[in-house]
Amino acid sequence: MVHTYSLIHDDLPAMDDDDMRRGQPSCHILFGEANAILAGDALLTRAFEILASDLPPEVAVRCCLELARAAGAENMVGGQVDDLAAENSVDLTAEDLERIHLRKTGAMIRVALTMGGIIANSDETTLRKLDFFGEKIGLAFQIVDDLLDFSGDATKMGKSLGKDEQSHKLTYVRIYGADESRKKAEQLISDATETARSFGNAGRPLMGLAQFILNRTY
Ligand code: IPE
Ligand code: MG
Ligand code: MG
Ligand code: MG
Repeated sequence: MVHTYSLIHDDLPAMDDDDMRRGQPSCHILFGEANAILAGDALLTRAFEILASDLPPEVAVRCCLELARAAGAENMVGGQVDDLAAENSVDLTAEDLERIHLRKTGAMIRVALTMGGIIANSDETTLRKLDFFGEKIGLAFQIVDDLLDFSGDATKMGKSLGKDEQSHKLTYVRIYGADESRKKAEQLISDATETARSFGNAGRPLMGLAQFILNRTY
């Protein structure tokens, strides 16, 4: 729900101004901007309602805190602010780029992993490993998103491509070029896979997820 809200708002004319999402007209195209803003507000609120109502109280509080940190100004929202501010900016470095990607995309993927661990009552070592795995695949996910915007198939992706260059976004492709970006994504997925492997058989779905992120064409 938080992810979907972030995309509904990301597509608004005031942000990335995208007309297509998941092979369909974006939320604001179908229902108008006011309803798209409100749909995002409702999804964000409902996510916390579900966490607060369906879990034992201590687990719920911990998950609410972790999700709020990942979705809020420190991470996803802050990353989106910096992503927009970076359009057309000069003098931005590879560190600025990594910081944006870790926050706008990586943090939500990380927390999806760690909340699973918290709900399963995992020990600290396991939580740290899940967090590490989430950080690596989260950054790789956004590098691949940048690569697909540059050279993907719009029909498969279900969204307009080529928008990053048009909007002068700060992307991995812009800083490193496509080949080097791909290598960086491969290294991150390899690091993540090593961590997933340490979970034995239970790590197999995570290994599959990591491979999917690297190889996806949609
Ligand atoms: C979106 O990044 C990140 C969030 C919604 C937090 P992008 O703007 O690159 O995502 P797409 O390319 O529109 O899917
Ligand atoms: Mg965006
Ligand atoms: Mg976008
Ligand atoms: Mg993108």
